[in-house]
Amino acid sequence: MSDLHVRYARPSDIDAVLRFWREAAEGTSISDDRDGVARLLARDPEALLLAERDGRLVGTVIAGFDGWRCSAYRLAVRPGCRRQGIAAALMEAAEERFLALGGRRADAMVLEANEPAHHTWAAAGYHREDHWRRWVKPLARD
Ligand SMILES: CC(C)(COP(=O)(O)OP(=O)(O)OC[C@H]1O[C@@H](n2cnc3c(N)ncnc32)[C@H](O)[C@@H]1OP(=O)(O)O)[C@@H](O)C(=O)NCCC(=O)NCCS
Repeated sequence: MSDLHVRYARPSDIDAVLRFWREAAEGTSISDDRDGVARLLARDPEALLLAERDGRLVGTVIAGFDGWRCSAYRLAVRPGCRRQGIAAALMEAAEERFLALGGRRADAMVLEANEPAHHTWAAAGYHREDHWRRWVKPLARD
């Protein structure tokens, strides 16, 4: 997609990204606020990838690598721009980053009910593992 430009998000992009996620992303993440995204960019300035067309934000993915796992989060494409290969281009860029950092395998958490996402991940070469469940605990100081 020659007219698509993928770049790292900067702190000045945070508000636009949060607005974009409200319109385009699946559900809400526990870190979907200014502090949450600012912390991500401070810790890893190359983690949040933005896809732009004519300067307009059309897609995002967080390509998170903590030195151990390569995990993709917040893959989202503007509703009017879907089925044009934007998610595929974002995941290609995310995987390039993972490989450059020495990553060995990429993963994503995908809601069982999110059928379009299943097709997207499968088309990008991912397969589902049925023997895991996510175990979580909210963190807070007393
Ligand atoms: C899922 C999502 C990111 C896909 O983005 P996209 O840019 O439309 O995906 P692409 O155009 O790169 O699609 C690549 C391939 O994935 C498959 N695919 C994507 N969306 C599909 C759909 N709705 N139905 C069936 N297959 C689909 C197709 O094989 C497609 O190739 P094709 O268009 O040549 O047939 C987008 O629908 C979205 O933002 N959804 C809401 C947020 C979300 O659910 N994110 C995923 C969280 S895990």
